Amino acid sequence: MTATDQDRPGTTGRSFPVSGPWAAAMDALPRALFLPDLMWAHDMFTGASEPVDRRADPDAWGEAAAADIPLVTQWDDGRNSDAQAGTVPTSSASMPSIVAGMLEDLDASPGMRVLEIGTGTGWNAGLLAHRLGDNAVTTIEVDPAVAEAAREHLAAAGLHPTVITGDGSAGHPAGAPYDRIIATCGMRHIPHAWIEQLQPGGVILAPWGTHFENGDALVRLTAAQDGTLAGPFLRPVEFMKMRSQRLTPPQHPVDFPGDASVSTTAARPPFGPWKAFPFVAGLRLAGLTHVTDRRGDERVVWLYGLADKSWAAVVFQDEVERSTVWQSGPRRLWDEMEAAHDWWQAAGRPGIDRFGLTVDRDGQHPWLNSPDNRVEP
Ligand SMILES: C[S@@+](CC[C@H](N)C(=O)[O-])C[C@H]1O[C@@H](n2cnc3c(N)ncnc32)[C@H](O)[C@@H]1O
Repeated sequence: MTATDQDRPGTTGRSFPVSGPWAAAMDALPRALFLPDLMWAHDMFTGASEPVDRRADPDAWGEAAAADIPLVTQWDDGRNSDAQAGTVPTSSASMPSIVAGMLEDLDASPGMRVLEIGTGTGWNAGLLAHRLGDNAVTTIEVDPAVAEAAREHLAAAGLHPTVITGDGSAGHPAGAPYDRIIATCGMRHIPHAWIEQLQPGGVILAPWGTHFENGDALVRLTAAQDGTLAGPFLRPVEFMKMRSQRLTPPQHPVDFPGDASVSTTAARPPFGPWKAFPFVAGLRLAGLTHVTDRRGDERVVWLYGLADKSWAAVVFQDEVERSTVWQSGPRRLWDEMEAAHDWWQAAGRPGIDRFGLTVDRDGQHPWLNSPDNRVEP
């Protein structure tokens, strides 16, 4: 950040642009107020996390705090506390531009009551409380140490929203009904308790997806009078998952028999983070997950059935037209994948924002273009 930027009103303390009603809250309440001394700057594209310690390098720490990057603040549910990154990041301060965009999509205004799931550092709850008032905001954090640090940082900033330590999937009935519910952790099911605690006309904004991929899509659901929720997916995002809805990744090859059948394919579905196809594949193919792996000029896609021992693997090479496919188990997972890919192509390769979700008493129903055009597995 240059001296000129620092001096310009409205940008102090951050190095990314935000406009709209949340810009003033972000300027008044910089993310740095909510961060621990030791944190990890996370590169969304490589997946690498570098430690930044305020005690050793305050300038680097300040730059990271002001940058538009996610900062990991806890690994492995707190079991790893040294400077080396752990295995699974389990709490973070999200990218500020994502935080600002979600607050805009939430469309919360003074007079409304808001429930947040996933307090993390407390920054998002602080921004909400700054604009809507302490009494309007309840936030739930499953990890007691994370919740306590957030309470301390909020109090030091002069803010006192209700911070509950517990499982956010139960909501917080004592504060209901809510006009808005915002989740800052990813999920595979919208918890029923949230629907019960939401006002008619209220909104749930949540990172939602399937176990097919780790990515999520931000869904904005509005409650009808009869309690049915429906709304569009807005864009791809990726959040740490709710503790109770995490996927334990399949172990290969020990879990799987080696009696695969071998064939070839000319199909090349576009797998990869923040792409539409993996999201669509998850809607069309129930009980399936995938892992991709690059080895030199080979790209390997592994598919795993979650309820049985089915698996498939495909090796793609840049200059080779037909790829080799291995399939094993009761499901022919690559054949299913090709059918999902054909369906998506025939539909004109729709992006994530052409899909939506309805949540009613019978469950969750993704759709394409309109709620009556359901996408069934
Ligand atoms: C990406 S962080 C949230 C960022 C946060 N909103 C902020 O402003 O810093 C996700 C948080 O969700 C929490 N979490 C995971 N599962 C949860 C659950 N079932 N209930 C409440 N919090 C949960 C994690 O412990 C983690 O702190």
